[in-house]
Amino acid sequence: MTRLTIQDIQTMKSRGERIAMVTAYDATFARLVDEAGADVILVGDSLGMVVQGHDSTLPVTMDHMVYHTQSVMRGANRCLVIGDLPFMSYQVTVEDALRNGGRLLSEGACQAVKLEGGVRSAPAIRALVEAGIPVCGHIGLTPQSFNALGGFRVQGRNGTAEKILEDAKAVEEAGAFCIVLEAIPAPLAKTITEALTIPTVGIGAGVHCDGQVLVSYDYLGLNDGFKPRFLKRYPPLGDAVREATKGYVNDVREGTFPGDEHSFS
Ligand code: KIV
Repeated sequence: MTRLTIQDIQTMKSRGERIAMVTAYDATFARLVDEAGADVILVGDSLGMVVQGHDSTLPVTMDHMVYHTQSVMRGANRCLVIGDLPFMSYQVTVEDALRNGGRLLSEGACQAVKLEGGVRSAPAIRALVEAGIPVCGHIGLTPQSFNALGGFRVQGRNGTAEKILEDAKAVEEAGAFCIVLEAIPAPLAKTITEALTIPTVGIGAGVHCDGQVLVSYDYLGLNDGFKPRFLKRYPPLGDAVREATKGYVNDVREGTFPGDEHSFS
C-alpha cells in the first residue's frame, strides 16, 4: 500500500477534503487506526501522559520519541506519520532542532516532525525545512508551555487573538507544511484557516479547520477521567477493557479457563 505524503495532505486542503489525524504510540494501535482509514498518525509527546502516566508531557525524552515512532512505523502502512519533538529538544538552539529532528526521521523513520510555538519557533522550523525535514507547527495551547500559560487553558481570548494569528503566519512563512491549532475559539481558527495556504488541523478549535486531531486514548475512552469540552467519546473502550478483563480474571479464579479447547493434549 502506498503511504500518504505531505503533498497528499496539502492537496486535501486545496480539494476541500477534511484531514483525519489521530495519535498512536505503538504498532498495534498504529495498524488499527491505519486500517480504519485515518490520514495522519501523530506520535505525540502526549504519550508522556496517556502511556507513561505523567501529569504533563515535559518528562518525555528524545529516546522515548524515537522508540515509539519506530513502533508506530512498524504498524502503519498507509498513514503519513509525524513524530513529535519533545520539550527542550528544539528550544535551546537551532542545532539541537536539526540534530533531534534528524533523529526522528533517520532512526524513527517517520516522514515529518511536529514542534510547538509560533514566532519564537520560526528559526528552528526554517532550518529543519531547509535540511529536508518537513515540519508540522503547533500553536494556541502548546502543552510544553503549560507552566508559562498558567495551565491547560483556551488561548486567543482577551485580546490575544492577533498574536495567535501572527504565530500562524510565522509558522507558514518559515515553511511548515501544516499546523495544529489547539484550544482556540472556533472563529479565530476559521480566520487562521482562511488566511493560510497550509492545512490547519484543530483540537478544541472548532469545525472550520481543514482537519481534526484527537489523542486516541481520549476518544476511545481509555483515559476515562479526562473529560474536556472538545472531546467526543466513541464506544468506550475503557469499559470494554475492564469488562473483558473481569471476565478473564473470573474464569481464571473459577478454573473455567483454560478449557480443553485451549489446552494441548
Ligand atoms: O502530543 C500530542 O498528542 C499533540 C496533539 C494533542 C496535537 O500534540
